[in-house]
Amino acid sequence: DNYCVIMGGGIGSRFWPFSRKTLPKQFLDFFGTGHSLLQQTFQRFQKIIPTENIFVVTNAMYADLVKEQLPELDEKQILLEPARRNTAPCITWASYHIRALNPNANIVVAPSDHLILKEDEFLAAIEKGLEFVTHSEKLLTLGIKPNRPETGYGYIQIDEPEGDNLYKVKTFTEKPELELAKVFVESGEFYWNAGLFIWNVNSIIKATEELLPELTAKLAPGKDLYATDKEKAFIEENFPACPNVSIDFGIMEKADNVYVALGDFGWSDLGTWGSLYDHSDKDAEGNVVLTCNSLIYDGKNNIVALPKGKLAVIDGLEGYLIAESNNVLLICRKDEEHAIRKYVNDAQIQL
Ligand code: GDD
Ligand code: MG
Repeated sequence: DNYCVIMGGGIGSRFWPFSRKTLPKQFLDFFGTGHSLLQQTFQRFQKIIPTENIFVVTNAMYADLVKEQLPELDEKQILLEPARRNTAPCITWASYHIRALNPNANIVVAPSDHLILKEDEFLAAIEKGLEFVTHSEKLLTLGIKPNRPETGYGYIQIDEPEGDNLYKVKTFTEKPELELAKVFVESGEFYWNAGLFIWNVNSIIKATEELLPELTAKLAPGKDLYATDKEKAFIEENFPACPNVSIDFGIMEKADNVYVALGDFGWSDLGTWGSLYDHSDKDAEGNVVLTCNSLIYDGKNNIVALPKGKLAVIDGLEGYLIAESNNVLLICRKDEEHAIRKYVNDAQIQL
């Protein structure tokens, strides 16, 4: 049977001041659609995975947010992490949990902070991928054609074709330096890792036991407790001791049975204000105005996101980000957005 694990425990700090530790971007509705990114992700997978097989793994501090946004989920489908340990421990726990329910489950693991514009193509690729990994040890990821040397992504170099748009992966490099990212993009052999993974539960557990034994050493001893009433106490005690490592650095870079399905899904990571700008409707001068009202005289290529009902009056401004949320107003050059991490840090002291 097919299962889905939605990872929803990140902070999304590059989207500050919209994304806050107490309200990360996956819980926000950027385009005013009425649905947060998490809700959109859930509804998308509901079309191909039975609702009772969809799990959300998140930090315990977001329990109420998830329950409020996804009332369709039974409490048993929400796995609450007592500590922040990145995506490898999140996926490993979910895998042990699901294996206890179904020892031969196929799983699609998805982030909750993405935009998918071509849903039919996307769901068709996921279904094909689920078939591809059945009865095999293959670890499958989705690859996107890159259009810029973005350093926040994983880069996948393709090897031999295995089928229609399916390739064996030669190398996987998570978050390369800019110089290397440029070489990758120019070579034409590399694709972005979409952050979506498809595998049989036994394959990912085996790979993790081999490649991250210090992680499985913490979580494997609970194997008879998962999906029982003893699981919570076991996780509270052992999860915080797991190493802090992402699935990309911990598994995907090192495993040698990785495959990639390439496709055009209208995918966007919405990782930064810049990617949100790229994916939003613009006026004739290239301005993007989200949620608020605006009166722009002389303004070009700005992105403006003020609270609903506010009026932004702009004259003589080019290439700026203006964002206000929860008592913070951020005004900076759009191309300086990599400095946001620094702003967040320094602002904590003021707030
Ligand atoms: N439950 C849980 N626990 N979820 C987490 C945690 C955690 O500790 N940390 C992150 N997540 C969730 C985030 O909310 C997001 O939905 C997803 O896991 C991925 O984490 P990010 O922190 O957003 O990763 P990234 O964007 O830096 O990199 C990943 O995605 C890129 C594409 O968007 C990697 O897989 C890259 O290789 C990939 O290119
Ligand atoms: Mg991300």
